[in-house]
Amino acid sequence: MLKVDIKNICCIGAGYVGGPTMAVIADKCPDIKINVVDLNELRIASWNSNDLEDLPIYEPGLKEIINRVRNKNLFFSTDTERYISEADAIFISVNTPIKVSGLGAGQASNLCWVESCARQIARDAKGHTIVIEKSTLPVRTAEIIKEIIISSTNSSEGDSKTFSILSNPEFLAEGTAIDDLINPDRVLIGGDDNFAIQSLIEIYSRWVDRKKILSTNLWSSELSKLVANAFLAQRISSINSISALCEATGADISEVSRAVGLDQRIGSKFLNAGPGFGGSCFKKDILNLVYLCNFFGLKTVADFWEQVISINDWQQKRIYELIVHKLFGNIYGKKIVLLGFSFKANTNDTRESPSIQMSKYFLDEGANLTIHDPRVSRDQVSKELCNYRKKIGNFRGYWDFESDVYKSIENADGIIILTEWEEYSKLDWKKISNLVRKPGWVFDTRKIADKDSIKKTSLNYWSVGEG
Ligand code: NAD
Ligand code: UGA
Repeated sequence: MLKVDIKNICCIGAGYVGGPTMAVIADKCPDIKINVVDLNELRIASWNSNDLEDLPIYEPGLKEIINRVRNKNLFFSTDTERYISEADAIFISVNTPIKVSGLGAGQASNLCWVESCARQIARDAKGHTIVIEKSTLPVRTAEIIKEIIISSTNSSEGDSKTFSILSNPEFLAEGTAIDDLINPDRVLIGGDDNFAIQSLIEIYSRWVDRKKILSTNLWSSELSKLVANAFLAQRISSINSISALCEATGADISEVSRAVGLDQRIGSKFLNAGPGFGGSCFKKDILNLVYLCNFFGLKTVADFWEQVISINDWQQKRIYELIVHKLFGNIYGKKIVLLGFSFKANTNDTRESPSIQMSKYFLDEGANLTIHDPRVSRDQVSKELCNYRKKIGNFRGYWDFESDVYKSIENADGIIILTEWEEYSKLDWKKISNLVRKPGWVFDTRKIADKDSIKKTSLNYWSVGEG
């Protein structure tokens, strides 16, 4: 294989990973030209918008970087063919959702977008190209990519194309993506072509300490990404399961988390109880792990990991049931306010947000829902909920969106904090207690509200994991 000095990068997929990751690489490597391509014209138009508030993704620190590098060495385009042909290295950063039908439905990854990238690369690349899996993929996907690329290139006569395939999974979390990319805990590069690995190391080492750049074989790299997400999600299900026990026994989950997390072998991060994890990846990646375990005949291992998802679903259901119970077992026609619709704070992403399932539970009860979120638009809420409304024949509940948090709360019977946005920790509870219908309830699933202020008012208060 050849040593490549990467000067031109193409990233296929301008989503939550492709956009921020390429923005940071462009910022750190001004001599490298980067083209981010996507088949979604609207998304590309938003990335190219003059108004930086219109970028398709909200991430703290992102617009400042885009402002520095866009149209200097970072470009967004739909011209996939052209930019694949110019690239020395191509990142595949497309979506890999769970299959909704067919073999492995509900568990296996749908690799149709990855496969179509491999075919485009085989067709349009020129010379030697490093192909980098950035998407999260089932272990041994690189084999599929290799086979598609190699078989397609062999069939075109007189072709002198060559390829190296690397796995370079992304560990950024939304809401902290820029900081995670600038200060990663590690960068993982899997592959069997040392020249290609070195070429990629040379890019990351411009800002990441070499000791944090790990190289492994392809399969370890692919699997490590799934396992990292499974371990993180498992911690959340563990603490959420204990939150229920705290409520039953009079213990306080914050105190238990602190006491347990101070053990250095356990660590204090990712021990916040809440309404269950959301986001586009945890559930999908665990389901994928479960599918792989079953595929390799490891049913007991598959069952172990599946429980992480069962606890997550259970946590949401038990919080919903508890809220209905506190509101006298009936929320038909009552005003329920959901504070927060994104799956976590500091992102506008709503994929798999606990707020979606919670909304559905309350709509089924016939509640009048009002939704507030500082970054999620009414249109986005509508995309997540409108199909659901159509689905139920004798629909009774309805939802509305309100961008002013105090207006949203007027005449509410119950206020449920579902996302840990900072502004919800600073709410004026005295003012709110005069806006709600009595007896008003506050349900804090994130433990961020100012409990002492609430307790000075006539509001009733419940928070997760507090007995
Ligand atoms: P996304 O849906 O936001 O973006 C993917 C983009 O790829 C879409 O805009 C889509 O139009 C585009 N696309 C699909 N096929 C294409 C093709 N053939 N040509 C051009 N464009 C194409 O997805 P995402 O959240 O950025 O996730 C991408 C991958 O990264 C997934 O595998 C995910 O598991 C993984 N990941 C995501 C995160 C995260 O925080 N969102 C973090 C780490 C890893
Ligand atoms: C997660 C991982 O943290 C990233 O390392 C990974 O790259 C990414 O998935 C991915 O592969 O997509 P993300 O889903 O963006 O990142 O955000 P997290 O901070 O992990 O939060 C996930 C969910 O867990 C959120 O709903 C959050 O509110 C919840 N959570 C998190 C808790 O309920 N408690 C906690 O202590 C931490």
